[in-house]
Amino acid sequence: MSDLKRYLVPWIDQVKPYDTEDLVVAWSRPELKRMMINENPIPPSEKVLQAILEAAKRGNRYPDNGPRLRAKIAGQYDLGPENVYISHGSSEIIDMVMRLFVTPGDEVLLPNPTFSLYSIRARAVGGSVVAVDLTPDLQYDVPAMLRAITPRTKFIIICTPNNPTGDFIPDEDLMKIVELGIPTMIDEAYLEYHPEHESKAPLIRQFNHIIVAHTFSKAYGMAGIRFGYALADETLIGYFRKMQVPWNTSLLSIAAAEAALDEEEELKRKAAYNNAGVEYVCKELSKITGVKPYFSHGNYVLIDATDAGVTGKEVVDYVFEKAGAMIKHFAPFRGRSGFFRISLGTHEENSLCVQAIKRFFENRKKEKRA
Ligand SMILES: Cc1ncc(COP(=O)(O)O)c(C=O)c1O
Repeated sequence: MSDLKRYLVPWIDQVKPYDTEDLVVAWSRPELKRMMINENPIPPSEKVLQAILEAAKRGNRYPDNGPRLRAKIAGQYDLGPENVYISHGSSEIIDMVMRLFVTPGDEVLLPNPTFSLYSIRARAVGGSVVAVDLTPDLQYDVPAMLRAITPRTKFIIICTPNNPTGDFIPDEDLMKIVELGIPTMIDEAYLEYHPEHESKAPLIRQFNHIIVAHTFSKAYGMAGIRFGYALADETLIGYFRKMQVPWNTSLLSIAAAEAALDEEEELKRKAAYNNAGVEYVCKELSKITGVKPYFSHGNYVLIDATDAGVTGKEVVDYVFEKAGAMIKHFAPFRGRSGFFRISLGTHEENSLCVQAIKRFFENRKKEKRA
């Protein structure tokens, strides 16, 4: 047996792999309601499926880097194809920026809580994560972020709307970060649910250190197909290309993305369906004493049940057992341990989940009275 430790990068032990256990359970038990990982409950359209099938017929050939698709994406933002890097989901962009900017011991600044993959990929390249708590009302604490900057801060992540809290960072706060000149990724993974809210893409014309990331995993509903993209200054995209693994986007995902872009009405329909679900969940759960849902611009709702005297895990376990719905609890934040998140499902699934949560709290009330 070789002594692997002698050869491995020394920081590997601090890397915790992204936990996919929930997905293993969900795929092996299709009867469960998948409301734990911010997927879209609506499957791809017929047109997208046809495009994938056509592309698969040429599956013996290597793909190019999607010049037509990049031009189409660029056109949405009045940019050029040279400003677009297409990727295997936006997770690849997250990994890419760490490989490009972070060396062992460098610091990556991000909010807490936020999407867990940022820290995982920062640590995978030996980076240190500097996570700055959101304010008690779950807004970006920009003064605290500015205070946390050091000479080793090599990268900043702004997720807007933030996962899991669902709110946008205000423009003036964002600009305080942007104007630092430190490479920053603005992750707009959920923006397509609220197209009335303008993308920060125009910033890339003015600032060569800004990257705007998008994904087709959310409003477009193509998480399993894997497609995302980054927008940035042409020079920075050139560095992405130096670092990239070729053929990162398959013929199938390029074809699917192109077809999906042509279906504007389908995207609107999916967004409206989701947004109605968000309204419903927030309205119903806010009727329960001590339970606070945070209105979300994404496809998830974060709920704090601390004031009802329960932990997020207790709610999650009950909903799994009684309704077969997989939802997710969160680590305690600012001493509050009642956080859990519902990823929106179909309207039927949302209703079953909400009913189960209501029953959980009714039962507790009865138990207390008894
Ligand atoms: C904020 C954010 N960014 C990126 C991603 C990753 O998406 P993709 O499927 O494009 O890799 C997620 C997934 O949940 C997310 O929440």
